[in-house]
Amino acid sequence: MAVCSCSKNNKSDEDRFIDDLLSRMTLEEKIGQMNQLDPEWDAELKEPLIREGKVGSIFNIVGAKEVNRLQRMAVEESRLGIPLIAARDVIHGFRTIYPIPLGQAATWNPELVEQAAALTADEATSVGIRWAFSPMVDVARDPRWGRVAEGYGEDTYLTSQMAAAVVRGYQNDNRQSSIGQSSIKMAACVKHFAGYSASESGRDYNTTWIPEVQLRDVYLPPFKAAVDAGAMSLMCSFNALNGLPSSANKHLNIDILRNEWHSDALLVSDWGSGSDLVPHGLCADKKEAALRCINARMEMDMQGNIYYDYLAELVQEGKVKESQIDDCVRSILRMKYRLGLFENPYVPEEEPVAYTDEALALASDIATESIVLLKNDGVLPLNLKPSTFNILITGPMADQPREQLGTWIFDGEPEHSVTPLEALKQYQTTSNNIKLLFEPGLAYSRDKSTANFAKTIAAARQSDVILFFAGEEAILSGEARCRADITLPGAQSALLAELHKTGKPIVLIVMAGRPLAIGADVANADAVLYAFHGGTMAGPAITRVLTGEAPSGRLPMTFPKMVGQIPLYYNRLNTGRPTYDPPVLIDDIPVGAKQFSVGYSSCWLETATEPLFPFGYGLTYTTFEYGETKVNGQLPMTNDQLPMTNDQLPMTISCSITNTGNVDAYDVPQLYVRQMSGDFARPIAELKGFQKIFIPAGETRTVTYTISREDLGYWHEEKDGFNSRVWFATDEAEFRFSIAPNAGAAQLR
Ligand code: NOJ
Repeated sequence: MAVCSCSKNNKSDEDRFIDDLLSRMTLEEKIGQMNQLDPEWDAELKEPLIREGKVGSIFNIVGAKEVNRLQRMAVEESRLGIPLIAARDVIHGFRTIYPIPLGQAATWNPELVEQAAALTADEATSVGIRWAFSPMVDVARDPRWGRVAEGYGEDTYLTSQMAAAVVRGYQNDNRQSSIGQSSIKMAACVKHFAGYSASESGRDYNTTWIPEVQLRDVYLPPFKAAVDAGAMSLMCSFNALNGLPSSANKHLNIDILRNEWHSDALLVSDWGSGSDLVPHGLCADKKEAALRCINARMEMDMQGNIYYDYLAELVQEGKVKESQIDDCVRSILRMKYRLGLFENPYVPEEEPVAYTDEALALASDIATESIVLLKNDGVLPLNLKPSTFNILITGPMADQPREQLGTWIFDGEPEHSVTPLEALKQYQTTSNNIKLLFEPGLAYSRDKSTANFAKTIAAARQSDVILFFAGEEAILSGEARCRADITLPGAQSALLAELHKTGKPIVLIVMAGRPLAIGADVANADAVLYAFHGGTMAGPAITRVLTGEAPSGRLPMTFPKMVGQIPLYYNRLNTGRPTYDPPVLIDDIPVGAKQFSVGYSSCWLETATEPLFPFGYGLTYTTFEYGETKVNGQLPMTNDQLPMTNDQLPMTISCSITNTGNVDAYDVPQLYVRQMSGDFARPIAELKGFQKIFIPAGETRTVTYTISREDLGYWHEEKDGFNSRVWFATDEAEFRFSIAPNAGAAQLR
């Protein structure tokens, strides 16, 4: 049943359509739209609700037939025939699985990430899904937190670029589509709004305390970037932010999202995050929770039932105005309208799109670009020229079709994964001097048994090189999978140490959902590749890099030496007492040393403050030489300093980079800035731009970035008695710029 046949070509048509529909809805029908259900939970109870128009969205239903069956109940049997919208946790691919988002961030290639999102939308929409619960854009500085896998790392600027890329990929699909007139294929849902990732001690769902200016400088910009890219929805976070859970947070949901950003995106709760206000200790019961949530404009309730159970009563009691409900329903209808669901509610029941050649090729490319070379004593790329070359493939992750897909892969199918073992076997068919030996040594990442060590060591002695595939099973990262110890689990490090004693060259390949503290393992390997959980085509991607394709990934997070350094991130403040160079370490302190004798600097006695690998780090099969950073084409007059005046902005910052080796390769020059003085202390480095450029061997390229006054601004706060005011401004100050291969190499001191 069509609801309205008016033409819908512009905004006012949209408003007219929505106003007309809203005017014909009963209060129960409006509240029904605010209800999002997983029909697999209590199907019998929920299907009648759909027929009565009391469900706005379903999720976790996959398959055109099943989505259409439920859609017919809504469109043909409910009074007003308002279509449902089918949602799903589509996080890093649908059937074809791309690397986990943290791995995608390691590509530093938003274009590829956008393409992966577009192909993901093709697959997901072909089975009826029009709303993806991603991207997760929570800036994360703590690798203990399992959800670092789902985001784009520790940096606000890099995360913002990736956030916008995913939104464009899902939503701005100009290609021919089978889902009707709307040019928007699948709505993005940017999550988790906001401050979720700063959870105390990296424990999921835990409290976060974030000062307003830090919230605005670090955590909110990726959400803003996604909103500016047109994101159609956002999801509330589970955590209490400064004591107030997001589903009840008027400041986030109304002051910032609506009044400052002027966003008309739909705001959905996380799973039961509204009813969670009771265990949070904010509300005495669920009815009060419903009141707090509607007052904070949480618009749709995911699987919590609090709106369904209590909103009508709250309206009757005069505690909630019907106009508040209308505002929420407007957002919901708007999203459905813009997706073309009123015109085209059904999905064609054709063969679903999955594993196209294009998607598999892209999955291989993006996984290849996500691999970060952390160490290379010359063993990589493998020298495959000798007449026989024996390769031992070992480690628990070498042949794990499911584990390499990573977290959140409800629809990924391990039988389509190409593992490293399989890919290397395929490669072997093209090069008959290679002999592969396979001894996993450990059955799975947490395996502590040493029973197969002897066999594996014997095989190692027969080999010319050892490829050790280490890491974490998929279940060890993602939601609620936090770790207090982030070393390689099980007996992996012990096996690696034994193999190291054979004296054979070892390539360590780590397939994991987070940065791991692998200092000791790196020392036991001749080369190290960090491959994250690379998805369906992880095996071919790793093989491409092992056999000669120059790696181009760069770390999206700082790698700590020890868990005790966490949170360790590059854009920290300097403190008034920065670490001594060289630092004072525990074994340097004489026995009986007097209190003042070793000084006072900000540092850990076991490991100082340096990371194992800095943010932005990554090697390749060539070397790059960076020229001096120039400002407006000139070398800075003194010591890289730039006295900033208004008439110098915007300015250009440039640098020449020469490929000084013999191999063509991509480089990722990164622009960092440091403000040397000003109204507030500022970070020692902040990323303000990056490019991924191809530089043939022996050639030089110049990269140029433009910096505006706004790029140098940050949030200020002034306290006046009980009042406090925040504002965004750029200080008149001295800034230093450095175009560098990683944050650790930035010359900003
Ligand atoms: C909880 C997670 O926090 C969120 O990211 C996810 O989208 C929802 N559950 C739905 O599964």
